[in-house]
Amino acid sequence: MSKRKSSEMSEKEQKKKLKEITTTTTTTTTNNEEQQQPIKNITSEEWIPKKEKYSDRYYEILEKRKELPVWKQKQEFIEIVRNNQVLILVGETGSGKTTQIPQFVVDAGLVKPGTMVGVTQPRRVAATSVAKRVSEEMDYELGQEVGYSIRFEELSSPKTFMKYLTDGMLLRESMNDPLLKRYSVIILDEAHERTLSTDILFGLIKDIIRKRKDLKLIVMSATLESGKFQKYFDNAPLIKVPGRLHPVEIFYTPEPERDYLDAAIRTVINIHEDEDEGDILVFLTGEEEIEDTCAKIQRECKNRGLKPMRTLPLYSTLPIFQQSKIFDTYKERKCIVSTNIAETSLTIDGIVYVVDPGFSKQKTYNPRSRVESLLVAPISKASSNQRAGRAGRTRPGKCFRLYTESAFKKLEPQTHPEILRSNLSSIILQLLRLGVVDLVHFDFMDPPVPETLMRALEVLHYLGALDDEGNLTHVGEIMSEFPLDPQLSKMLIVSPDYNCSNEMLTIAAMLSVPNVFVRPKDCRDDADAAKKTFDHFDGDHLTLLNVYHAFKQEKEDQTWCYDNFLNHRSIKQADSVRSQLARIMNKFKLSLCSGDMNNRNYYTSIKKCLVAGFFMQVAKCEKKNQYFTLGDEQSVIFHPSTGLSRRPEWVIYNEFVLTNQQYIRTLTEIKFDWLMEACPSYFNQGTFPKKSKDAIDRSKRLTGSK
Ligand SMILES: Nc1ncnc2c1ncn2[C@@H]1O[C@H](COP(=O)(O)OP(=O)(O)OP(=O)(O)O)[C@@H](O)[C@H]1O
Ligand SMILES: [Mg+2]
Repeated sequence: MSKRKSSEMSEKEQKKKLKEITTTTTTTTTNNEEQQQPIKNITSEEWIPKKEKYSDRYYEILEKRKELPVWKQKQEFIEIVRNNQVLILVGETGSGKTTQIPQFVVDAGLVKPGTMVGVTQPRRVAATSVAKRVSEEMDYELGQEVGYSIRFEELSSPKTFMKYLTDGMLLRESMNDPLLKRYSVIILDEAHERTLSTDILFGLIKDIIRKRKDLKLIVMSATLESGKFQKYFDNAPLIKVPGRLHPVEIFYTPEPERDYLDAAIRTVINIHEDEDEGDILVFLTGEEEIEDTCAKIQRECKNRGLKPMRTLPLYSTLPIFQQSKIFDTYKERKCIVSTNIAETSLTIDGIVYVVDPGFSKQKTYNPRSRVESLLVAPISKASSNQRAGRAGRTRPGKCFRLYTESAFKKLEPQTHPEILRSNLSSIILQLLRLGVVDLVHFDFMDPPVPETLMRALEVLHYLGALDDEGNLTHVGEIMSEFPLDPQLSKMLIVSPDYNCSNEMLTIAAMLSVPNVFVRPKDCRDDADAAKKTFDHFDGDHLTLLNVYHAFKQEKEDQTWCYDNFLNHRSIKQADSVRSQLARIMNKFKLSLCSGDMNNRNYYTSIKKCLVAGFFMQVAKCEKKNQYFTLGDEQSVIFHPSTGLSRRPEWVIYNEFVLTNQQYIRTLTEIKFDWLMEACPSYFNQGTFPKKSKDAIDRSKRLTGSK
């Protein structure tokens, strides 16, 4: 593989090019909000027209659809949904909930002209793939009558009357459309997952349906504590759909497995050797483990002289284009190795075997230490059944659980709601923007602990989103408009004051997409060498800026990206995200500007601006490589991916990562007095623990800051 050339430019050259690019970066992009405005004054027939002629494919799928268990209860469903505002529907995995129920809603004549039925999904890959399937089932072109919407990507048209969207997107839409008037029917699907956004939507929509008697709500899930849900929604009626199309045979291991990765690889190889045709889906916990396992499976196949197998990784940070490769058909047997993003909703044609080691990475949040982390933990029974349900969708299947039956029986019945284990500052900001002032009395299905709410309010207060009375400030309102963490939105809002909004837009966009650096297993050294050429002396945020500028300067060339170990798709995506963020900046008349690159203070302004958003994510050097996070006093070291080779006294970090070590990732050197400038009230508060307080006091004395 050839080495990079372009970034061997001298710093001066770089600055020159950088200037050319920053001044020519445009902000044109299609405006989804405009595209989506519903058409007014039309009849039901015009809105949902009957086709005169359907394709052969339509009839072919229709025959299959009619065999799905939900079809037996179509009339019952239509009657109940017509006569009730809220309905709870529980059906086994694969019974046809996600794909069929929205179509029944249309058949029941419940989608009023100019409005939509909206179906939420916890995951992006589910929203896009199910929308694709349903548009096929209805014989439409995807993005016309049936569309989807996920963060930073929308495929819909003025004709769209059925939209699959992530729960987070519906929540965002509710900010501009508080009564969700674009919708006649809302379906909250996969409710058992209890994601943060779904839980908030429960409370919001419960309130909206009191105000809008014409809005229908359907809450759907494969497994649901239906009694709890019925009670929450004022004793709404429940429909149960028994049965599934194809059986799934479940196998347990007789003894507990000592190493679930070894066991998973062994099982895949055994299936490949002994079982009939059919693709395999393996559930693991994270990116590295997945990539590793894919490579090991390949190696095993080769060593044993087995037929080739196509291994495909699947995890959320993989660009959506690469994710969708799992749906392609291949000559060889396909083995998809995935995190739990493939656990719900997905139908991957051809999957016959599921291998389930019984673990996933789960988010935990400790409001006391303010640490949000992902830890590997046993899954719930509900998850385990969902996983098994990925087999047997298009034909009978088998699920190999790599744990004993008695271990299965001891699993928690449901996944613990995300709201009870998350940092809530972003979601609370959205709630406040929606006018939910009395958070303590918000109708949470499971209320978060008060300390978590307090922490979130505290962060928002220091970021200037809330005033002393806890009311949303003007800055807070603008912050809530950005689909970003509050720290990043704050950084963007103040960036014109630092004369670097073009640069900050780029950094925010680059932080919002999957990793732009590629590091293939077999050429890590080359990849690392390539990355080094982009590294900025002061830290990783500026490195990201370098990469984006070089990308623009190379005219977005794919080969150049490949040669430089950069993920072309990711940077392209960042470019699109950047345009969308720039649009929000324009909306609020936040000017897009850049300083003079030849000025000594060019990078200082950018770093100061970073501090204005991230002053609560600071680490101080304790000794050598050892740092501690200010405030929470977690002992951390730099993540190996950092390009910051020095060990400065103070750094800001974008992320706290907990694996076998406590890391901070994406780092930039800063100066203490910038912290004081950014938010004196935070650093002057009396409640810091001792080590932090001593460090702050000492630095104040040394720098003469007040
Ligand atoms: N892309 C597809 N290709 C082939 N068949 C499909 C596809 N999508 C759905 N199906 C068929 O429709 C059935 C029902 O799928 P659907 O997603 O509606 O089920 P569900 O009840 O929502 O399941 P889950 O609880 O797993 O989300 C599948 O089991 C499968 O037989
Ligand atoms: Mg479903």
